[in-house]
Amino acid sequence: MTQDEMKKAAGWAALKYVEKGSIVGVGTGSTVNHFIDALDTIKEDIKGAVSSSVASTERLKQLDIEVFDCNDVTSLDVYVDGADEINAAREMIKGGGAALTREKIVAAISNKFICIVDGTKAVDVLGTFPLPVEVIPMARSQVGREIVKLGGDPVYREGVVTDNGNIIIDVHGLSITNPKELEDKFNSIPGVVTVGLFAHRGADVVITGTPEGAKIEE
Ligand code: A5P
Repeated sequence: MTQDEMKKAAGWAALKYVEKGSIVGVGTGSTVNHFIDALDTIKEDIKGAVSSSVASTERLKQLDIEVFDCNDVTSLDVYVDGADEINAAREMIKGGGAALTREKIVAAISNKFICIVDGTKAVDVLGTFPLPVEVIPMARSQVGREIVKLGGDPVYREGVVTDNGNIIIDVHGLSITNPKELEDKFNSIPGVVTVGLFAHRGADVVITGTPEGAKIEE
């Protein structure tokens, strides 16, 4: 089974968490794209979606799934999104696709975070995948210096502008043994919009695509 087939297995398995008549929180990335394909098959039964990126919004609209403004929705039952790394405590690194800020916002209004991944995303310690940080452009150098003080090696992601008009710094060389504490430290650096550590708000359900099919952990 290819990695994409495992992503597909996870994406389609998430469908069972979508309630009839609901508005669904939709993440971003190649695994979520499979979930959106699955959502297409039940679109008559749902009200619509709140999206975490321009890319997912376009995909949803192409399928005639209504996309609601986040400001018009107080809470969502479920948010379905991928991850770049996930540990046993269901803390994640996200933002490989640069959508981390909107993903964190939609996750924050959701009662249940359903994380859909293939087996390669599970790790003991977060940090092998470079930690994405969305930064206000004028703060790039200063934030880089602060990241060095935290023990990281900041690398500017060339040519990427986020949906919010900001830049991404990818932090290499971290071994994140206390994700919540590190999330707080990054959040306190002026100029940081969002750090791609989802520790305070981790996943509630993990669906892993494996060669044997989707494995669900509730
Ligand atoms: C997007 O910014 C990320 O947080 C994605 O959720 C993450 O990169 C997962 O992507 P794939 O599903 O494409 O592996």
